[in-house]
Amino acid sequence: MSIAPFLRWAGGKSWFTRRYKALFENLKFNSYHEPFLGSGSIFFSLGTQKTAYLSDTNEELIETYLAIKDTPHLVISELAKVKNDKESYYEVRSAKYTTPVKRAARFIYLNQTSFNGLYRVNLKGQYNVPYGNRTKDFLDETLLLQASNALQNATLECCDFESTLNNIHEGDFVFLDPPYTVSHNDNGFIKYNQNIFSLEDQYRLANFITRLCHKGCNYILTNAAHPEIGKIFSDQGDPTEVYRVSLIGGKRAYRGLTSEYIFTNLEFEL
Ligand SMILES: C[S@@+](CC[C@H](N)C(=O)[O-])C[C@H]1O[C@@H](n2cnc3c(N)ncnc32)[C@H](O)[C@@H]1O
Repeated sequence: MSIAPFLRWAGGKSWFTRRYKALFENLKFNSYHEPFLGSGSIFFSLGTQKTAYLSDTNEELIETYLAIKDTPHLVISELAKVKNDKESYYEVRSAKYTTPVKRAARFIYLNQTSFNGLYRVNLKGQYNVPYGNRTKDFLDETLLLQASNALQNATLECCDFESTLNNIHEGDFVFLDPPYTVSHNDNGFIKYNQNIFSLEDQYRLANFITRLCHKGCNYILTNAAHPEIGKIFSDQGDPTEVYRVSLIGGKRAYRGLTSEYIFTNLEFEL
């Protein structure tokens, strides 16, 4: 069953699953792999019961998925204890819990009630996003139970994308959605975000794709629409540039047209 992700995530790909519904409905594969999991919007929309390998370098995120997979009722009852108001938010934000269940409930609560759902930590690794004043109910019990069910055949791991290669075999499908190194701007310059995903990481990713293609796998890569990205991934052929209307962040947020590059070895008209 296809479901929505239970987390809000920067760079979430729900729009992609909606636009390319037919592609995902007709996708054939042995095992599914998503090494830049985030909110898992592609995995959850697929609704697959096949073996899945899901990973991300965000440790708290993976711990949350594991708790939802194994002990969803315990996480739900922890969530049911907290209120959505400013005082409770800052109390939970500064709390340090010692059990995985409580940490998972905290992660979901902060994700749902914070200002923009962004996962942002300070230099000490402390979550520092302000309260969001959101009125939407932060506890969706049904969705969490559906997510738990969807995760039953998934192996979850906190690791760099490159170390997932050993699990990938002929006939598998890999969806790759790395953080976008190159920022989109109007002046034609590019800005690399070394802390998130460096240029070096993009080269490692290009090499990773070459290796998984040699294994006989299918993949889709989404990435920033920039000539530099086109060059780094030139072994994968020409990208398709896809456009969409999205909210451009910053102080004076506005709706604008953004584009992204899609690379794939699937035979499909994007
Ligand atoms: C653009 S987000 C993925 C969004 C996801 N597709 C969704 O729909 O929510 C990129 C993810 O890659 C993770 N990440 C960053 N560097 C990584 C690395 N070297 N290996 C694996 N994951 C990494 C981040 O923690 C983040 O969750």
